[in-house]
Amino acid sequence: MRIGVIGAAGKIGQMRVQNIIDNPDTVLAAVMDMEMHRAVAVAQDAPAFSDLERFFDTPMDAVVISTPAHVREPLCLRAFERGLHVLTEKPLSPTVAGARRIVDAAAKAGKALGTGFNMRYYPAFAHMKDVVTSGQIGQIDHVRVYGGHDGLGHFAHEWEYQAEFSGGGALWDVGIHMTDMARHILGEITSVYGVATNTVWNVPGSEDNAVAIFKNPEGIPAIYQASWNDWKGYKSAVEVYGSLGMVRASYAPMQNLVITMDKPGGAAKKTRKFYPEIMLREKLKSWKTTAIQSFGEELADFVRLTHGEAGLRCADGHAGLRAIEIAAAVAESTRTGQPVELENIGDMSIK
Ligand SMILES: NC(=O)c1ccc[n+]([C@@H]2O[C@H](COP(=O)([O-])OP(=O)(O)OC[C@H]3O[C@@H](n4cnc5c(N)ncnc54)[C@H](O)[C@@H]3O)[C@@H](O)[C@H]2O)c1
Repeated sequence: MRIGVIGAAGKIGQMRVQNIIDNPDTVLAAVMDMEMHRAVAVAQDAPAFSDLERFFDTPMDAVVISTPAHVREPLCLRAFERGLHVLTEKPLSPTVAGARRIVDAAAKAGKALGTGFNMRYYPAFAHMKDVVTSGQIGQIDHVRVYGGHDGLGHFAHEWEYQAEFSGGGALWDVGIHMTDMARHILGEITSVYGVATNTVWNVPGSEDNAVAIFKNPEGIPAIYQASWNDWKGYKSAVEVYGSLGMVRASYAPMQNLVITMDKPGGAAKKTRKFYPEIMLREKLKSWKTTAIQSFGEELADFVRLTHGEAGLRCADGHAGLRAIEIAAAVAESTRTGQPVELENIGDMSIK
């Protein structure tokens, strides 16, 4: 599969370029970035462009869009008009309307849309999902998800935290992966009740914290928090509680805890899983080594998605859209004090 990368010179874009070169099933067709000299530096043997139409004139089957969210929509729409499959970073768009237009364009073109929720591939979170799917912890009773970091000092650019570019605050940033994680476990989220706060950083429209309850169509809840004043540092955690046990995944460091029992309250078998090779690798190199590995696995699944395969670990366009709708629903619920009901959109198929 011939794949081009837009935003190729960026922090994440460069990793995407490397993944495409490293994957035996993909070929780097071309790269594009507004900053031509930086695009040339990452292109290796592929052609580099700063002009979008000239980039799209290069023969390719799919494009990875690794730009900031606020410039993403026209790039996605043009890619679908050009008949390409699209894998884009999260968040899909800073607005619900924009995210819907991207999903609609993919459906109209009959092309695959993938959303870069790469934490699904972080080994502890992948293991957690597999444990739940295997039935080891019985029937899911509830889920707890948390994503947080220490706020504005974490960001390199204003577009990462100012609502006009980012869509909002903690929910749209570190929290969006955990929103997706709740949906990944629960299957769908159709009810959102929440409160967003804005007392710490005072960035207009960008919440510091979001505390919420999500429910799936069967009424199974997830307790959710995204935070920009976790003074302890970057942390993501998911716990799934079932009738016969629980499973926890957390990062960083990467860890699992699995508790299983043969009947509620029966003798508990506890298994802890550590990932020393990841901890060592991150200490010696960087967190980027874990991210790039996840992007590589995500790319392989995205290629399968373009072939119409279902049941993959990767997030499709509906996952990207629903995460945005949930973020907007928490803001609405904060204003009205009422839960917001959403339709069940399910998975996105290629027609
Ligand atoms: N999944 C993750 O773990 C993860 C982590 C960090 C960032 N992200 C997401 O990845 C995206 C990029 O983030 P980043 O940290 O790499 O940012 P970055 O600023 O390092 O890179 C963005 C690149 O896009 C280019 N660009 C901007 N507008 C463009 C346009 N209109 N056309 C072409 N190129 C354009 C910039 O020149 C830059 O090279 C964001 O959406 C961010 O939220 C995902």
